[in-house]
Amino acid sequence: MNEPRSAERLAADADPGLQGGADGSVNYGHVVEPGVIDSGHGDILYLEDISVSFDGFKALNKLTLNIALGELRCIIGPNGAGKTTMMDVITGKTRADSGSAFFGQTIDLLRMSEPEIAHAGIGRKFQKPTVFEKHSVFENLELAMKARKDPFGTLRARLDSAQLDAIAATGERIGLAQSLNREAGMLSHGQKQWLEIGMLLIQEPIVLLLDEPVAGMTDAETDRTADLFLELAGEHTLIVVEHDMDFVNRIARTVTVLHEGSVLAEGPMAQVQNDQRVIEVYLGR
Ligand SMILES: Nc1ncnc2c1ncn2[C@@H]1O[C@H](COP(=O)(O)OP(=O)(O)O)[C@@H](O)[C@H]1O
Ligand SMILES: [Mg+2]
Repeated sequence: MNEPRSAERLAADADPGLQGGADGSVNYGHVVEPGVIDSGHGDILYLEDISVSFDGFKALNKLTLNIALGELRCIIGPNGAGKTTMMDVITGKTRADSGSAFFGQTIDLLRMSEPEIAHAGIGRKFQKPTVFEKHSVFENLELAMKARKDPFGTLRARLDSAQLDAIAATGERIGLAQSLNREAGMLSHGQKQWLEIGMLLIQEPIVLLLDEPVAGMTDAETDRTADLFLELAGEHTLIVVEHDMDFVNRIARTVTVLHEGSVLAEGPMAQVQNDQRVIEVYLGR
């Protein structure tokens, strides 16, 4: 079996003229064959007692978290709570010092590389949009799709009708159906974020990790993003880190509050909002 490679690397290999975003670190999630992920009694992601230290500072401190298949989970908490580090551990970017992390019942994330985890079906959207600015919306979606379906070959081959349909459907879903031929660099900030979400979706990830997806969006864009996430939940499992509490309020089912690297509180929004400890460390500020 060939070693899975990151889609971005592949796109860059295929066309040296293509440039990713500034940090160049986007991960496009991939799905393995149907049925390979055994979600057992319903949980798709289990973290147990995960600890991560940076120079003796515990960014994660025995973090335990279970996410059910199809859930839309919001993660909130003050700056430095460990939210991004949690995503880094799930996606293999950062190694945990101890604990366990499973995708489904059987896939041990702590033994996998970042590209292997992406290939297994965990996609991640970083804060900054990292679309290919000089290429059209259509081409961005096409590249993301082909990086998954045909990683080593015919990036220039003609699209078949199923592929054209997938691009059209994704464009529709992310609200860019009328903008498929526009250069990505000309899109608004919110539209770029949607495009990048589309580039993840077209690879059919099982789990999508979204770090502060509505930061910098207008109110209207934020509203549309809430609708999109509500639509995607069920079909995908979404883990959303966000500080915008109006947005969280709109989409939240279960909310997890991280503080000092562990779960401080977890439950329905109304319950978490009224938790005295949560008010003290985060909401009351
Ligand atoms: N690569 C790193 N090296 C050193 N310290 C880090 C690194 N990544 C995160 N940290 C520290 O770990 C803590 C948790 O950070 P982070 O996960 O980014 O929090 P959040 O996303 O909740 O704001 C912070 O104190 C941060 O400074
Ligand atoms: Mg963060």
